[in-house]
Amino acid sequence: MEELSGGRKSAIYRCGDVVYRPLQPWSPTIHQLLKHLEHSNLHQCPRFIGVKENQEILSFIAGDTYNYPLVGAITSAEALTSAAKLLRKIHDATASLLSQMDLSKQQWMLEPKEPFEVVCHGDFTPYNVALSKNLVVGVFDFDTAHPAPRVWDLAYSVYCWSPFKTHSLDKLGSIKEQVARAKLFCDSYGATAPEREQLTDIMVARLHALIAFMRKEAENGNEFFIADIEQGHLQSYLKDIEYISINKQKIQLAVCNK
Ligand SMILES: Nc1ncnc2c1ncn2[C@@H]1O[C@H](COP(=O)(O)OP(=O)(O)O)[C@@H](O)[C@H]1O
Ligand SMILES: [Mg+2]
Repeated sequence: MEELSGGRKSAIYRCGDVVYRPLQPWSPTIHQLLKHLEHSNLHQCPRFIGVKENQEILSFIAGDTYNYPLVGAITSAEALTSAAKLLRKIHDATASLLSQMDLSKQQWMLEPKEPFEVVCHGDFTPYNVALSKNLVVGVFDFDTAHPAPRVWDLAYSVYCWSPFKTHSLDKLGSIKEQVARAKLFCDSYGATAPEREQLTDIMVARLHALIAFMRKEAENGNEFFIADIEQGHLQSYLKDIEYISINKQKIQLAVCNK
């Protein structure tokens, strides 16, 4: 058994072709999602294999994994475009799942957001994908999945992949390069004109929702989020909101092809 790094400490283990992750209250919903993705031939996502005591067993996605600071293949244009195309495939595949689900009976980690167009991954970021050379060939960590409009996930992914991040460890490139990456992500996803027009505002709204979630979890005694806030992550999100707001016009002009 090998502990996998890049996420929570002492929580995720690999044993050959499978991964053991802690079961959560929302895991039955996520298992339904993973089964649906498997039936939709999305082999880039982990397959749900089973449950053992308080662990879920998922298939291991082969490939190189990365974390901030982003260096190497993960920063390439190919990685960005293949990531956006994979996000699009996942969204397209989940639209039909929503019509089969009784949403009032499903539990999710993050609050669903209307209108329910697709199941968003919720954390489709450079640290949750697997690469083969410069191409994104897989994605894991579906715990944050929740029903929402496509642009809700698209905006958060653009924020992380551009990235519009200000912390010295997380940032990459100049604003000009970040804006060009944001446009490339939207183009590769095939974003509509209305999705592009809302992008920056939704990015900020998504970050505010994340901050509210972190605060609520910390108030309820969730030690992971208490530590996360103590380490300054919430403050970084607030700084990023400011950065995005200052650069709103530049981002919008580029993603809207103006
Ligand atoms: N199904 C999987 N296939 C391959 N690697 C995985 C898989 N699940 C997790 N990992 C590895 O374990 C790390 C932590 O798992 P992850 O599911 O992202 O948990 P966390 O919620 O703690 O971020 C990931 O960054 C990745 O490297
Ligand atoms: Mg992760």
